[in-house]
Amino acid sequence: MIMQYPHTEPDRSGRLSVASISRFLITLVLILITSYTHTVLASPDADKWVHPTRSILQASPEKLPFYPSRASTGDSTLTESMFDVSETCQGCHQEIYHQWKDSVMAQAWRDPIYKALLKRASAATDGKLDNFCVGCHSPIGMTTGQTTPGQPLEAVDVPGVNCETCHNISDISGRDNGAYVLTPDQNTPSKKYGPRQDAESPYHASSYSSLHTRSEFCSACHNVTHPFNGTPIERTYDEWSESAYNEEGIQCQDCHMTPGPGVQQNPGKSALMGKERGKVFSHYFTGGNVTLHNYFNQPEMAERARAMLRSAAKMDFIEAPKSITGGQMATITLKVRNTGAGHKLPTGFPEGREVWVDFQVSDSQGNTIFRSGAVKDGHTEPGTQNFKVTLGDKNGNVVDLNVWEVDRVLSDNRILPKGYALVKYRFMVPTDVQGPLSLNANLNYWPFSQKLVDELLGEGKMKVEIVTMTTAQHSLKLQSRSAFTLHPQKTSTE
Ligand code: HEC
Ligand code: HEC
Ligand code: HEC
Ligand code: HEC
Ligand code: HEC
Repeated sequence: MIMQYPHTEPDRSGRLSVASISRFLITLVLILITSYTHTVLASPDADKWVHPTRSILQASPEKLPFYPSRASTGDSTLTESMFDVSETCQGCHQEIYHQWKDSVMAQAWRDPIYKALLKRASAATDGKLDNFCVGCHSPIGMTTGQTTPGQPLEAVDVPGVNCETCHNISDISGRDNGAYVLTPDQNTPSKKYGPRQDAESPYHASSYSSLHTRSEFCSACHNVTHPFNGTPIERTYDEWSESAYNEEGIQCQDCHMTPGPGVQQNPGKSALMGKERGKVFSHYFTGGNVTLHNYFNQPEMAERARAMLRSAAKMDFIEAPKSITGGQMATITLKVRNTGAGHKLPTGFPEGREVWVDFQVSDSQGNTIFRSGAVKDGHTEPGTQNFKVTLGDKNGNVVDLNVWEVDRVLSDNRILPKGYALVKYRFMVPTDVQGPLSLNANLNYWPFSQKLVDELLGEGKMKVEIVTMTTAQHSLKLQSRSAFTLHPQKTSTE
């Protein structure tokens, strides 16, 4: 099932322009010169993400009541009193409430990283981007007029993405930039849109919505396009829609609304007085942001996020000699597979999300003789084999943080769903070490570097946790040199 929504679709044709070929050649030459020890081969087919066609820009501003957000309300004016607070729902939907309460989406407004970047974006654009950001991070705040563009926003207390947000969405008008249609009806409380055809609640009317059972529901917020120049910034939905998961009918909900990775069973009730259901959809919405959960002191959710990350990838040595002689170059290849994420690994917030290999070789004494992928000065050291998207401004300079300046995708080697990457290392084995050598590779993740946090919030405000998603080990024997070796006294004794 592939649906065409031209305004968000990346180029599917796979055509290569002269510019992209020359860019490719230049990159290749640079790789050959500078990255002699490290070469990342992305999965085939990854190239189209790097040079996507620009999205055709959204409907004209006059047609969008919250421009540059694409949110709409069916021409109604919304007020705060049309929405309940989530604590009202808690009365009957206790479990769901507790799951949601510690989810990242529940913190979407009060997230300090978000607030700090919002403040910068707002100042840099005279408030022109305010509705854009708020439209996804507090839909109710924006549509009820509690957040006024151009006014200081940090101090405003509005809900993040809460119960009433998702369950008053009746439709979507597109697949990015907050294109949900938020339409609480005239009843108090309003009718709730949900996945059941036979839901009966003593408190509210219910309406079946097939949209809620599909990834398209999430697409309104999980595809971010630069509102003024059309550059794709986040593409989680598109990544999923082009993957085998879509073909197999596996939706975002099937991985993010279950009790945990790989667990599909969840019989029970979604509400007091509710019907017994074969499978109740959980509301943890677990992702990878362990650091944010630590910050908000949510240890259970932090552990869920670690488990989610560990379920996402596998890594093996696919090329490594069994033995080697001191003084020789060793060539090692690792295969990193995205086995569990229904989109790229990593996906989402491009300025931050990073997966990388920390590869270490040590001798039998534990001395490190080679390392690539250490963290230095709060970021991964130069030369690290990482999986990340790099965005650029209109002059082709890297944009680290000021996302409003983004004009193009400079590179993107994140691993496609069910795809893999090969990571190569070459290192010199010294002549005077004791074998066997231990080769250790950790596949690490962080939602953003410590450097980025320190820059946004100041030092000591938030500690970034590095999560090891998976590891691989290999032992490499050291062959003694022949009888004519120059330094017989140093020959390995194994
Ligand atoms: C007095 C108890 C009660 C309260 C309060 C309550 N609900 Fe419900 N809700 C129910 C029951 C019972 C069901 C039916 C469950 C079933 O059939 O499995 C239900 C079903 C739902 C459904 C599923 C609808 C469908 O068609 O699939 C949604 C969504 C929902 N509630 C959202 C909310 C939200 C949001 C709030 C807070 C504004 C809320 N509920 C408050 C009792 C309540
Ligand atoms: C990010 C959006 C989102 C938020 C926030 C959210 N829900 Fe849901 N909810 C959904 C979706 C989507 C489904 C349907 C999943 C499916 O069927 O695939 C759902 C399903 C439900 C159901 C039916 C569950 C079942 O299996 O029968 C209830 C009840 C419900 N939600 C209540 C709530 C309450 C109460 C809150 C707040 C504590 C809440 N939701 C917050 C998106 C959301
Ligand atoms: C109204 C907009 C909106 C909708 C609809 C929405 N999301 Fe989100 N979601 C967000 C925002 C905003 C964040 C980021 C909050 C933050 O980090 O401050 C987020 C965060 C998340 C995260 C946590 C990511 C992490 O890094 O840990 C997951 C997982 C997620 N959403 C899944 C879903 C799924 C699945 C759906 C559809 C069922 C969905 N979302 C629908 C806005 C939305
Ligand atoms: C096959 C299971 C699966 C499906 C389908 C899936 N996800 Fe995920 N998702 C994961 C796993 C595993 C992770 C943790 C690894 C990671 O961070 O990429 C994750 C992470 C995320 C994150 C955190 C971003 C990051 O990389 O730090 C977001 C946001 C998210 N998913 C949203 C979605 C949305 C939206 C959809 C549907 C368009 C979706 N997911 C479909 C399994 C899935
Ligand atoms: C189309 C919806 C949408 C818009 C518009 C949007 N965001 Fe987000 N934002 C998201 C989603 C979804 C995530 C979570 C992605 C992930 O987990 O990787 C997110 C994540 C973030 C994060 C990372 C938070 C964390 O704790 O890791 C920051 C910071 C952020 N957004 C800031 C902004 C700012 C500033 C703007 C306006 C310039 C903005 N966003 C506009 C949907 C949106």
